[in-house]
Amino acid sequence: MSQNEVVVPLARLKSPRDSHARPIRDLRISVMDRCNFRCPYCMPRETFHDKYRFLGSAERLAFEEIVRLARLFVQLGVRKLRLTGGEPLLRANLPDLIGDLTTLPGIDDVALTTNGVLLAQHAAELKAAGLKRITVSLDSLDPEVFARMSGGLGSVEDVLDGIEHARRAGLIPIKLNAVVQRGLNDHTALDLVERFRGTGVIVRFIEYMDVGNRNHWQPELVVPSKELAARIGERWPVEPLERNYRGEVAERYGFKDGQGEVGFISSVTQPFCGDCSRARLSSDGVIYTCLFATQGTSLRDALRGGASDDALLEMIRNIWTHRTDRYSEMRADLRRDSGQQPKVEMYYIGG
Ligand SMILES: C[S@@+](CC[C@H](N)C(=O)[O-])C[C@H]1O[C@@H](n2cnc3c(N)ncnc32)[C@H](O)[C@@H]1O
Ligand code: SF4
Repeated sequence: MSQNEVVVPLARLKSPRDSHARPIRDLRISVMDRCNFRCPYCMPRETFHDKYRFLGSAERLAFEEIVRLARLFVQLGVRKLRLTGGEPLLRANLPDLIGDLTTLPGIDDVALTTNGVLLAQHAAELKAAGLKRITVSLDSLDPEVFARMSGGLGSVEDVLDGIEHARRAGLIPIKLNAVVQRGLNDHTALDLVERFRGTGVIVRFIEYMDVGNRNHWQPELVVPSKELAARIGERWPVEPLERNYRGEVAERYGFKDGQGEVGFISSVTQPFCGDCSRARLSSDGVIYTCLFATQGTSLRDALRGGASDDALLEMIRNIWTHRTDRYSEMRADLRRDSGQQPKVEMYYIGG
């Protein structure tokens, strides 16, 4: 370091605010656009068939590029990272990346979301690399319903085995995400609660969202969290819990008998755009400021074009300060006015 260089403590660097005064705190990084499932609500098989052209490995951000960008995001205020996809456990040598990200100064939390099928195989090495906790997606315990929700790939046993390996490896707390679709898996939702109540695994129900353009979303298929919470509350009395932190997306309820909690992510019926402090980085390095975005900006092109750290920082700061997104709060109007505008797909930027 040169004598004249001034080191400004992270805490004193000014974090940009977007047009609704929201800071940037979380970064979701898609490390892989491919997936070993074909959940119809995310990657319907008719689109993501055998000939679908996924990214080539040179198109995806390399680990060094991800780490360099993550370090810059930290300078702008990011404290929490989530690795996702596609299926992140399909990315070779993922523990190497986790090792680098969990030791980045300024990062408080690194999490990972997986469909769990490869988790039994990788749980111990993920933990050894520095990962502390994990989120596993599991939409139903019923094998037939599960198969419908996963596009006929993977099995309930594989996912349960993955969860058990994660628990033994100490990747806790384990959160379990279930997307609920009316008429498809909503009749099996309470089975998930019954199975995991009292085990330390926190079940969270996600309202089926209109991400992307290919899942044939219809409002009738959404089961409002309030309806599901009422059904659960009738069987096991619950009480609302405080949010763990500002901007937490899940609404939490504790079981009155002390057997843990259940959460609801209600982006459709109770949008949480007002507190959204999240940016998303696609596997090929495009930054998006909303899950429902119609366009993003390639940081990879700038980075591979030789941009300096300062230039990249300025670019990200500029994108964030111009951010206006409030899609979920304005869903009805936006769908009416610009329903045909292509939105980015979830498998590509990660959920
Ligand atoms: C896109 S996946 C990526 C990580 C991993 N493959 C998995 O399934 O956990 C992340 C989360 O998004 C959820 N998801 C995908 N499409 C969705 C949709 N249309 N509505 C609500 N949640 C969705 C998935 O259920 C999963 O919990
Ligand atoms: S939700 Fe996850 S597991 Fe299902 S297709 Fe999308 S990326 Fe794959």
